[in-house]
Amino acid sequence: MTARTSLGFHTLTDEIDHDCTVVGTLPDWLSGTLIRNGPGAFEVGDSAVDHWFDGLAMLHAFTFGDGGVTYRNRFLRTEAYESARNGSFESGFATGETTLRDRLKAFLFEKPYDNANIIAERIGDDYLALTELPRWVSFDPDTLETLGHVRYDGPAPTGQLACAHLKRDPETDELVNFETAFGRRCHYHVYSMSAATNRRHICSIPVDDPAYMHSFALTPNYVVLTEFPFVVNPLDFLKPGTQGPFIENFEWKPERGTRFLVIDRRRGAVVAEPRTDAFFGFHHANAYEDGDELVIDLETIPDATAIDTLYLDTLRRGRFDVLSGRLERFRVELDGKRTTIERERLHDGTALPTVSPARWCRRHRYVYAQSPDQPMTTWPQAVTKIDTETGRAVEFADETGDHRFSEPIFVPNPDGGREDDGVVLTVALHRDEGRSSLVVLDGESFAELARARIPNPIPFDFHGRFFPELTGR
Ligand code: CO
Repeated sequence: MTARTSLGFHTLTDEIDHDCTVVGTLPDWLSGTLIRNGPGAFEVGDSAVDHWFDGLAMLHAFTFGDGGVTYRNRFLRTEAYESARNGSFESGFATGETTLRDRLKAFLFEKPYDNANIIAERIGDDYLALTELPRWVSFDPDTLETLGHVRYDGPAPTGQLACAHLKRDPETDELVNFETAFGRRCHYHVYSMSAATNRRHICSIPVDDPAYMHSFALTPNYVVLTEFPFVVNPLDFLKPGTQGPFIENFEWKPERGTRFLVIDRRRGAVVAEPRTDAFFGFHHANAYEDGDELVIDLETIPDATAIDTLYLDTLRRGRFDVLSGRLERFRVELDGKRTTIERERLHDGTALPTVSPARWCRRHRYVYAQSPDQPMTTWPQAVTKIDTETGRAVEFADETGDHRFSEPIFVPNPDGGREDDGVVLTVALHRDEGRSSLVVLDGESFAELARARIPNPIPFDFHGRFFPELTGR
């Protein structure tokens, strides 16, 4: 029996296909599938992981159509999953004594860690589960069955670390991403792709001490890498005898400040690299161009000690303080001569910020996010809609205080005009009942429209994507 306080950081063993009971009314236009990805198991037999990010990947699919919802969940059948079932969790983000040297060796032997538990994406015709290594796991989007590994082996330069949050330009349907290559000379290799096997190299940026960057910003003309001063010295960890989990090889070096690497997407050139104060962050909400300015909405955290609080023993004790960030807006002016950065606080106390996919790379007004209490002593009990024009925010919370909410995902009404004409989907974990539900909120009023009952408690997860083409028919 899982203790109530640690429910959410528990292991879910059941894999089910379920026709949900729906309370309330779903909009007629809502059709498609939300696929969420996250850690589903932290122990198998006597073997366990230490860090939240290292739980075994589990996919959850919520399919909407004809006024109903079906739910299905499956573990990814990865090498990491098989080895956990055979008694040993493999090297992960922060579990075990795996060194980055070992990890590079594993890369050379063509078998990087495949526990792809961060997000699910469509790339061309493939549906892929992604993590921070450049080896993706493809799955059947209808059955969630694992199909195999996908790895780019074309002429564009590649690296050993990948960014899980690749960005889609909705205008061109192009996906942009970067990989970090370690060696005598390290590089960030930036590229775009139309299919998993088809890359266009944009540029390669030499770097002495590569930074840990969980996401980045994209606009129609620019790629922006926000290089936080959480860096690794490759000479230190490439030498024999380096110990410790992968992420512990990175060091917080605030004296470096944070650098915005602004890359022209078409010319493949760095056009500006202004620095500002040191801060850390995981998630860029969105970015757009406003005349000569780039506007970047980013969730910031004062420093990278956040990583240390994501160990499971800390989370299960109810310590979440630095999971909660601040939504900030950075304006980077590109006037050709000098580059200035303006920094503006938009909202205190957010986690996992998102915008309408119709506004990716374009000017947005609304940001949706989890809304943790301040200080954060439990998983978020509310979600929020932030109006970046007025500064106002409206919250949705369960009155009983029993619910814990996931990242909110906005689904635009295909016939709608306003930016917030649509619904927001979030998974609520009901702690008293020990189960979850999928909650559907009205995008404009933020009032509840419907909820679909899930018989099992879904562990807290990372990210979801809504795929309107997956109608389940
Ligand atoms: Co993320």
